[in-house]
Amino acid sequence: MVWQRPDGRQPYQVRPISFHGGFTRFAPGSVLTKFGDTQVLCTVSVSEGVPKFLAGTGKGWLTSEYRMLPSATQERQARELLKLSGRTQEIQRLIGRSLRGAIDFEALGERTLTVDADVLQADAGTRTAAITGGFVALAHAVSQLLQQGVLERSPLSGQVAAISVGLLQGEPYLDLNYIEDVAATVDFNVVMNQDLGIIEIQGTAEEGSYSRTQLNHLLDFAEKGIQQLLIFQKEAISDWDQLLPVN
Ligand code: CDP
Repeated sequence: MVWQRPDGRQPYQVRPISFHGGFTRFAPGSVLTKFGDTQVLCTVSVSEGVPKFLAGTGKGWLTSEYRMLPSATQERQARELLKLSGRTQEIQRLIGRSLRGAIDFEALGERTLTVDADVLQADAGTRTAAITGGFVALAHAVSQLLQQGVLERSPLSGQVAAISVGLLQGEPYLDLNYIEDVAATVDFNVVMNQDLGIIEIQGTAEEGSYSRTQLNHLLDFAEKGIQQLLIFQKEAISDWDQLLPVN
């Protein structure tokens, strides 16, 4: 039996993806990111100073906070529980680790970039939307901060994007929505850079196990998805050439 995608997509097709920059006013980077029905507001702010372990090194830092809104899911979830959940902690650490891969911390100097990912609507893939949109918000923030003279040079050193991929009926499918996420026996989140270098792979068999052949197949799909995301990100960043090293 072959899995029929609820929205009629091809197995290797991502959902409609969009980045709405300048979504809110006060953070230098603010991007409403949509992967189909998943909607995440990614904002980026900067502050002077770094955590204690970096003080005096001349290097900056990037950290992230992730939260779902109480009404982002079918059943309302209490704010306090969302804040404390292990899932929240795990996801915000993943976002921070991933986006640190795009920053030259010496160029940033002793400043901290904070990426806030707030999920307005969750239809699976919220962490991959947060990372992918978080990168666009970072670029928008750097652009603004350069214009304002807060930064002297761009600390962006590369590009980072993320996508989910899973096995349904033993076959790989890209960018799962919630119905698919629940039905998948294997669930992957893959983070890569502009060269398709791997930054992080999270891959769990919810049922049974997966083979090396299936793993390779899943990663091939993830690469295809990320190649598309890298293009979409570039299209959403108007002054790309001023922000990133030429590659
Ligand atoms: O969102 P992401 O795929 O990165 O993370 P997940 O933990 O695998 O969750 C998959 C999806 O399950 C979420 O995007 C939500 O649609 C749903 N979910 C939920 O409804 N309630 C939760 N407490 C956690 C997840």
